[in-house]
Amino acid sequence: MSRRGLLAGLGAAAVTAGATPAAAAPAAAGVAPVALATAGAAVAPAETGIGAATVPFHGPRQAGIAEDPPAHAAFVAFTLAAGTDKRALGRMLPLLTDDAARLTQGIPALGDTDATLAALPARLTVTFGFGPGLYRAAGLTSPVAELPAFRIDRLLPRWSGGDLLLQICADDPLTVAHTQRMMIKDARPFGSVRWVQQGFRRSPGVQAPEHTQRNVLGQLDGTANPRGPEIDPAVWNPDGSSTLVVRRVRAEIEKWDMLSVSDKENAVGRRLASGAPLSGQSERDEPNFTALDDTGLPAMPDFSHVTRAHVTDPALKILRRPYNYDGAPDASGRPDAGLIFAAYQRDIARQYVPIQRRLAEKDLLNEWITPIGSAVFAIPPGCAENGWIGEQVLS
Ligand code: HEM
Repeated sequence: MSRRGLLAGLGAAAVTAGATPAAAAPAAAGVAPVALATAGAAVAPAETGIGAATVPFHGPRQAGIAEDPPAHAAFVAFTLAAGTDKRALGRMLPLLTDDAARLTQGIPALGDTDATLAALPARLTVTFGFGPGLYRAAGLTSPVAELPAFRIDRLLPRWSGGDLLLQICADDPLTVAHTQRMMIKDARPFGSVRWVQQGFRRSPGVQAPEHTQRNVLGQLDGTANPRGPEIDPAVWNPDGSSTLVVRRVRAEIEKWDMLSVSDKENAVGRRLASGAPLSGQSERDEPNFTALDDTGLPAMPDFSHVTRAHVTDPALKILRRPYNYDGAPDASGRPDAGLIFAAYQRDIARQYVPIQRRLAEKDLLNEWITPIGSAVFAIPPGCAENGWIGEQVLS
């Protein structure tokens, strides 16, 4: 019996026995869980709350969007192989869905070459995005189109485009690495890896979860994001679908470091230490764009990032879910750092593009940030326990 067959058989046995691999991981019904206890006694159980924590995979909306972002992410984009048509996609996506359904619950993927590494899901989510090329391959009309060109763009093909995206997030980098490896392996017959972007945020426990995190530029980033009930009108279509823009934005950190604190604050429109708008006192104060400072000038500079990006209509906001990146510096020690700027919204053309256009026209921050990658994806609805991601789109 092949290893895959063996694991599948063990999975069925585990269902009967009602075994669950990680204490806190509810077994995903419909996806036969593979009992770690049976797969290998040497597998250590989840030892801490962080390692054992799971995010449900199944449901009308995909996970990995509205939840607080875990500390580590890999955005993996694929180019479909010639000949990967609608029927082939109908074979690939159930397979990848099954991998994601298992791994997110701490259960090894079928044929997992290292089942021990699946034991600690650490809030793992896998979110599927479909690029325009996937719809072309399936003979369907794409609900998303590439962004228009912006004059600030210095886009590199190696960070741009993609037919299929897997956004893999977890509070542990080894979990992300294992998931990435398993899912790339299963996607291999259908396409090749186009790019991988790895990013990070603060580790769990480092600061209280309700506190806004700082990005690699030292700014509090995420303050004005929709939260709670504000997320629905901005992000989710009634059918559970959404869209994603991924921009790789390089930061000129060494040039940024040369600014005074007040110049940094004017560029963003918020205080560096507290995150308060320059027109207010504390982080959650609404920016007041008509307030004047002591010198009679607008307290919120006309061309500050926040002034240009601000949106009041809840249905026109975007949900920013950025990760920092920090690659190896060049030979002279110059950093290779910035943001993998991921933004979710119902409709890219209605919500994302107008904000990006205003920022591209005038944003003081443009002096220190450069978009070097860009990709757009439709986010199909989630799926039920006996379904697969993309089912509604492809069948
Ligand atoms: C490296 C790139 C970027 C950096 C460092 C950055 C940084 C920031 C910071 C510090 C804030 C203020 C705090 C907050 O509300 O989160 C902010 C707000 C915001 N940014 Fe960015 N940002 C970047 C790129 C972008 C891009 C590409 C977009 C969209 C096209 C964008 C859209 C927004 C929006 C909508 C807000 C909230 C504005 C408001 O209503 O107050 N940002 N950003």
